[in-house]
Amino acid sequence: MKYNLSELREIIRNRRTIKPEDFSARKVHKEIVVEILNNALWAPTHGMTQPWFFKVFVEEGIPRLADFLAGTYKAQTPTEQFTQKKYDQLAARPRLSTVAIAVCMKRQDSEKVAELEEIEAVACAVQNMHLTATAYGLGGYWSSPALIYTPAMNSFLDLGAKDRCLGVFYLGYPKAEWPQSHRRPLEYQSDWIEK
Ligand SMILES: Cc1cc2nc3c(=O)[nH]c(=O)nc-3n(C[C@H](O)[C@H](O)[C@H](O)COP(=O)(O)O)c2cc1C
Repeated sequence: MKYNLSELREIIRNRRTIKPEDFSARKVHKEIVVEILNNALWAPTHGMTQPWFFKVFVEEGIPRLADFLAGTYKAQTPTEQFTQKKYDQLAARPRLSTVAIAVCMKRQDSEKVAELEEIEAVACAVQNMHLTATAYGLGGYWSSPALIYTPAMNSFLDLGAKDRCLGVFYLGYPKAEWPQSHRRPLEYQSDWIEK
């Protein structure tokens, strides 16, 4: 064995979604965020397009993000679908985090690689981020409210019309016990074709 597989397995299986309301107030320091993002860059990428781009909100950037998310939700949601709970969550979640990362896919001009594959590459980058966070004892939360897919979000993030925001990734130390999860066993999720 070239690497420590049992440690790798632990990190993969203990990677957990933890929402900002379950974060402690402990700050996630910049060096850790930089390490997490540097590992993101090592995701696979078809044609080496490296389509990921990260807008990192910290300090005074946090209320800017919160106000944008909540305000845009209110502006874009028909009255009959609007819920105060959702509005409050969008306004609160960034403020309960010390770092929130808008994860973006930058579309290359040539459009040679299929958009789906560019999105897949960025999703792989997020997994690298989340696994690295796990190694630091950090929870992550990939949040994808519908408004992230709108032109308003692209404009807020200075993205081009063909770029996409895939989510806001929050990072934080859990304030309580590390959560447990489960998965359906492999036999339900795979077929082996032998002849
Ligand atoms: C593309 C993507 C988008 C997600 N968006 C949301 C979201 O908007 N809200 C949410 O509660 N969880 C979101 N999640 C996180 C899932 O809820 C979470 O991964 C799932 O519950 C499994 O928990 P675990 O990550 O701890 O294994 C998202 C996950 C992915 C991969």
